[in-house]
Amino acid sequence: MATMILVPEQHPALRAVAQPVTVFDDLLSTLANNMVEVMRDAGGVGIAAPQLGVSQRVIACEVRQATRRDQEAVPVLPLMLMVNPTIEAVDDSLVEGWEGCLSIPGYRGLVPRWQSLRWHAFDLQGNPISGEAEGFIARIIQHEVDHLNGVLYPDRATHVEPLPAENPE
Ligand code: NI
Repeated sequence: MATMILVPEQHPALRAVAQPVTVFDDLLSTLANNMVEVMRDAGGVGIAAPQLGVSQRVIACEVRQATRRDQEAVPVLPLMLMVNPTIEAVDDSLVEGWEGCLSIPGYRGLVPRWQSLRWHAFDLQGNPISGEAEGFIARIIQHEVDHLNGVLYPDRATHVEPLPAENPE
């Protein structure tokens, strides 16, 4: 069982600009492990440290089962942990798609996001890592990086509604 839990939507960490990580130590690994555990327990595809009340720039993304979202085939995404991530658009055309958030249970929203992006970050040992992502994976990364800047998806959404009861996710 995870030793940390999701903080409520009103928690100030969710509205703060998170601090860059400067020390890549066991505490960071422990934080990352907790994030992954909470994300998996909740059935999420991404999580950011501020969602656990920790105002540090760490995110995790993972798609454990290939799926379809908004008419798009979404491949399995092996667990990605990003420390101090930055993103830039490759294709900055905006695509609307549905998003939820572990910190805002019971709702979803239509959110415009870049179609594809390039990301740079560090791994848990402090090594630089980078890559490109598109579609739903790019959406997850943008959503999680937003968390590091105190932005929640309803801030960007064109429409927010309660989750349909027959489609809990
Ligand atoms: Ni979220």
